[in-house]
Amino acid sequence: MRYLVTGGAGFIGSNIVDELLRRRHDVTVLDDFSSGKKENLAHAVKRIRLIRGDICDLEAAREACDGADYVLHLAARTSVPRSVKDPIETNRVNIDGTLNVLVAARDAKVRRVVYAASSAAYGETPTLPKVETMLSDPISPYGVTKLVGEMYARVFGHAYGLENVSIRYFNVFGPRQDPTSQYSGVLSRFMLAVIEGAAPVVYGDGEQSRDFTYVDNVVDISLRACEAPGASGKVFNGGTGIRISLNDVLKLLGEITGGSIHAKYDRPRAGDILHSQANIDLAVQLLGYHPRVDFEEGLRRTWNWYSEAFVKK
Ligand SMILES: NC(=O)c1ccc[n+]([C@@H]2O[C@H](COP(=O)([O-])OP(=O)(O)OC[C@H]3O[C@@H](n4cnc5c(N)ncnc54)[C@H](O)[C@@H]3O)[C@@H](O)[C@H]2O)c1
Repeated sequence: MRYLVTGGAGFIGSNIVDELLRRRHDVTVLDDFSSGKKENLAHAVKRIRLIRGDICDLEAAREACDGADYVLHLAARTSVPRSVKDPIETNRVNIDGTLNVLVAARDAKVRRVVYAASSAAYGETPTLPKVETMLSDPISPYGVTKLVGEMYARVFGHAYGLENVSIRYFNVFGPRQDPTSQYSGVLSRFMLAVIEGAAPVVYGDGEQSRDFTYVDNVVDISLRACEAPGASGKVFNGGTGIRISLNDVLKLLGEITGGSIHAKYDRPRAGDILHSQANIDLAVQLLGYHPRVDFEEGLRRTWNWYSEAFVKK
């Protein structure tokens, strides 16, 4: 089968590319390398069709969709704090760009688009765990854009018959997550701090909790979503069903790295939510998804990768 992965040079996208190549599929990547990295595809570049381009350019989206059976659409501005600072740019890429990808996928008659949606769509709704049928109530511009993306995907199903599935990823972590910017995922920042002998920074009291999901699990659910019968038009939570507080993460990381970790606590950040946890019943039922790698194992694997990638430099 022929797959297009938009954002395929990024953290999650490049892990999806690896699994598709392992399964011997044809892969095209469309990426503008705004946050993605050549290194993420270094081992794969000879085996894929790589298009350096912007999803906001309809012609680039059309070129990438040409001949594709499935489109995994991950390209996006992914930072919540950055979306608070610059909502117009996040809106442009995540909404206008997504619309281009959907138009191009429709016209290329692809079998299905799988959209990388986000748990940010739930915002601060108090009920835990989050169920897909709950009211969406995002509290950041990023959350709004990711919700609009899944609504557009569904509308393309209704209006044009384009099959679509949205997976709301919950705090994904693992190898290749970029720890070097202030906008990086919290686990990657914790790991870099430990490697550098610095105190990890926790925004808030550390009792906020997340459904941290190891990247192999979201690769698995996303590929299941491409082919699962009866899934089109639906939104699924892509998490583990378990949440863990940042303070407990630091304790476990201390055990894995062989020392206790003393964090520096700072003020909470605008747009950050307090707790997040997925109900994954629908994905279990319709996609046959079961998280294969638990949090502790994922943390170990991620630590092993970071200590190779960053210590030896
Ligand atoms: N990491 C998470 O925890 C998480 C949680 C929920 C949803 N998501 C979604 O998953 C997807 C992938 O996230 P990630 O964590 O791998 O981030 P990432 O920043 O590593 O990947 C995003 C990729 O998209 C590319 N990109 C950005 N703008 C582009 C544009 N205009 N045209 C072409 N390519 C562009 C970047 O260069 C990068 O390679 C995103 O859609 C994100 O919203 C991620």
